[in-house]
Amino acid sequence: MNERLLIHQEIDLPDEFDVKEDKLFYSNIDLLKLAKDYGSPLRFTFLPAISNQIERMKMYFQKAIEKTDYQGEYSYYYCTKSSHFEHILKKAVQSNIGIEISSAYDIDLIRSLIKAGNLKPGTAIICNGYKTPEYQAGITAMIQQGYCSVVPIIDSKTELLYYLRESKGLSPIKIGIRLNLSFISGYDRKSRFGLSPEDILSFYQHEISKNEKLELSTLHFFNEKGMDNSDDYWKVLEKIVRFYCQLKRWNPSLTTLDIGGGMPFRSSINSDADLPLLVQRIISTVQNICHEEAVMEPNIITEFGKYTVAEATSTIFKICEKKTADEFNWAIIDGSFITHLPDTWAIHQEYPVLPINNWNKNLKPFILGGLTCDSADYYPNTPENEFIRLPDTEEEQFIAFLHTGAYQEALSGFGGVNHCLIPSPKHLIIDRNQDDVLEYVVFSEKQNSEQLLNILGYG
Ligand SMILES: Cc1ncc(COP(=O)(O)O)c(C=O)c1O
Repeated sequence: MNERLLIHQEIDLPDEFDVKEDKLFYSNIDLLKLAKDYGSPLRFTFLPAISNQIERMKMYFQKAIEKTDYQGEYSYYYCTKSSHFEHILKKAVQSNIGIEISSAYDIDLIRSLIKAGNLKPGTAIICNGYKTPEYQAGITAMIQQGYCSVVPIIDSKTELLYYLRESKGLSPIKIGIRLNLSFISGYDRKSRFGLSPEDILSFYQHEISKNEKLELSTLHFFNEKGMDNSDDYWKVLEKIVRFYCQLKRWNPSLTTLDIGGGMPFRSSINSDADLPLLVQRIISTVQNICHEEAVMEPNIITEFGKYTVAEATSTIFKICEKKTADEFNWAIIDGSFITHLPDTWAIHQEYPVLPINNWNKNLKPFILGGLTCDSADYYPNTPENEFIRLPDTEEEQFIAFLHTGAYQEALSGFGGVNHCLIPSPKHLIIDRNQDDVLEYVVFSEKQNSEQLLNILGYG
């Protein structure tokens, strides 16, 4: 009991978790039962978490807007690339949001949502990313169809030239332009995205302002370092808002600043990011600069990916074996980090990890090893953290990697061939029905060897 209390105090479980009879519960779901009923490795998505995240963020913005008497409006967009699944999009758009897309096949994804009656007429779509001819044609078709309110974000000069040419056949359209951030001294990333401030001003002056079919309504940027409370973030934001003001003085049709994604998710169990404060600071920074520059405050758009979906999904593994090699304690999972959670390997992403059972046991440090033959297939994989702590027992042990819902399936090529032929895990979707009862649906079974061999041409 003492140990259990000690564990509780040390890790300070978030509200949606609980420990009962030495087992972990998530939103009242017994995770040990879940792992045993459905088998492991198991990815499960709890859809209500997506609506909660969106509603919470809208509330943060609403409060900040009211507190500061900010004159612009806020719109939440979900960026499809962080998880393209239909169940995710269907759930997200129920919260009356816009969608940000980034490639040609995303257009078909939108068409499919419309066809199935899952997208309301007038839903706002922002088209980001590099526009291949196929993507470009799809955007034009969507604009002509008129079901959604589509705003392409110009990412390069050739794209702008395309609209200057093609707009002749279209009704007047709104466009946005992505600002390349390399001009900012505090922004130390090499960026290929968007156009420089000089190019934007020159294109506006010489081309867009002279074309009555194009209305430049939106300035977009994405600080790829993510949103945080560091001085760097605010310095970069200030430079961008100053440029917004300069452009607005030239172009009265400019109404909107699209600040992209980057809102953090809880990547550790004791994550202390103060999101309401972050939002408050975004609003007041934009407002203060606009006041100084005597420019009307813009409407603000965000395109949050990982914030929207990461926390809705967890990945459960079973420990196959514990072994000692040299002075290290290894626990081998029945999956793979490289294939199931590729960000742990590629960008050293951390996730909260919790034991699912044996909460009455003492904890001992372990390195988790994956099933592939790759020496890089282990976790944790950061200089700061060398171990995770697991119950010190030889009994059957399950563990949960939490908040794994963003990017992992797309990066590992869901349903494809993976390193050492490690199959994609079973994927379970959990949602509440109209009577508020939880419903469990298997979205996909664990990949079988026939599926893999077929892909490889052995059929
Ligand atoms: C243009 C753009 N918007 C939004 C996002 C979403 O970012 P995040 O998942 O960090 O919110 C991305 C991610 O790459 C992006 O490139």
